[in-house]
Amino acid sequence: MEILSTSETDLEKAAEALKAGLLVAFPTETVYGLGADAFNTSALARVFQAKNRPSFDPLIIHIAEQDALSKIADTSALNENTKKLLSILIEKLWPGPLTLILPKLPNVPDLATAGLGTAAIRFPSHPVAQKLIRLSIGAVAAPSANLFGCLSPTRAGHVKDQLGERVDLIIDGGRTRFGLESTVLDLSHEHPRILRPGGTAREAIEALIGPVELSTRPNPNPAGGTPALLSPGQLKSHYAPRTPLILHKMGELAMIPEDPMEGRLYFSRPAHCSPNSKVLSQNGDICEAAANLFDMLHELDSLGLKLIRTEEVPEQGLGTAINDRLRRAAE
Ligand code: TXA
Ligand code: MG
Repeated sequence: MEILSTSETDLEKAAEALKAGLLVAFPTETVYGLGADAFNTSALARVFQAKNRPSFDPLIIHIAEQDALSKIADTSALNENTKKLLSILIEKLWPGPLTLILPKLPNVPDLATAGLGTAAIRFPSHPVAQKLIRLSIGAVAAPSANLFGCLSPTRAGHVKDQLGERVDLIIDGGRTRFGLESTVLDLSHEHPRILRPGGTAREAIEALIGPVELSTRPNPNPAGGTPALLSPGQLKSHYAPRTPLILHKMGELAMIPEDPMEGRLYFSRPAHCSPNSKVLSQNGDICEAAANLFDMLHELDSLGLKLIRTEEVPEQGLGTAINDRLRRAAE
């Protein structure tokens, strides 16, 4: 494994590696992705292997121009209303932290979509991601560059620590801006629904296209069998640190006596702050909190503590995504 810079020469080298079927970890505005040519099935297989990812979990295909959508999605299968919503979302929210689930074209490998009839497509806003995608094949499949079920990487060092020699190249673009994965919005059914809250707030989507459902939990199965997963990111213990984590209600954390073997992650500045405490945002700013979330969990997780205690944040805007990740990490 080699770490590259974001220089022109290094990005060209990384693009050539992608074309040759190698795995390249790269920064996006949300988290680092583990990239492979979306149309190269042996490279895709290596992605699952590198992450220890169950093969049923489909990947997001990253593009760097709107036209590339027509090579992956079959938008003719959408009804007229959904077509309208799609064009509004693309115009207003792409590029950015919004992944769209759309009916796929037959040429998209089943490995990328885990055999589903739909594909997840995202146009990242990060200039390094865009350049890499443009210089390579125009469609880069990339899950977050972490081991399956572990914390998503917000720095190149996190990728190196988790994936090591399982990845060929890592482009070091510094710390990611959002620090939280993209919002996954399913447009393949009659009504749009959010399968994973993330970097684009539900409110921002609703302001453009009206009410959207939020279905972040598996569908309960009326027959009492295994619940149906709409999106494998809905798995319970996704995004978990290795250290056990307890999630408290807002304001509860400050009432619990401190223990030197425990770490704490507060939403905003508490009256008293111990050495193993981190604060997501000193002023209680929800965007800053989202950007710090995985970074601070990584830091607390590396301290060898017996427990991490954290607290819910206000359930608005990106707060929904933060609470979703914290609840899953606590399960
Ligand atoms: O911000 C992000 O989205 C990052 C960066 C690298 O772009 N990527 C990311 O990928 O978080 P990943 O693979 O860790 O998460 C993709 C999510 C998973 O929850 C997966 O189940 C869901 O998208 N997904 C992918 N294809 C899907 C499909 N066809 N239908 C439903 N869910 C899908
Ligand atoms: Mg992930």
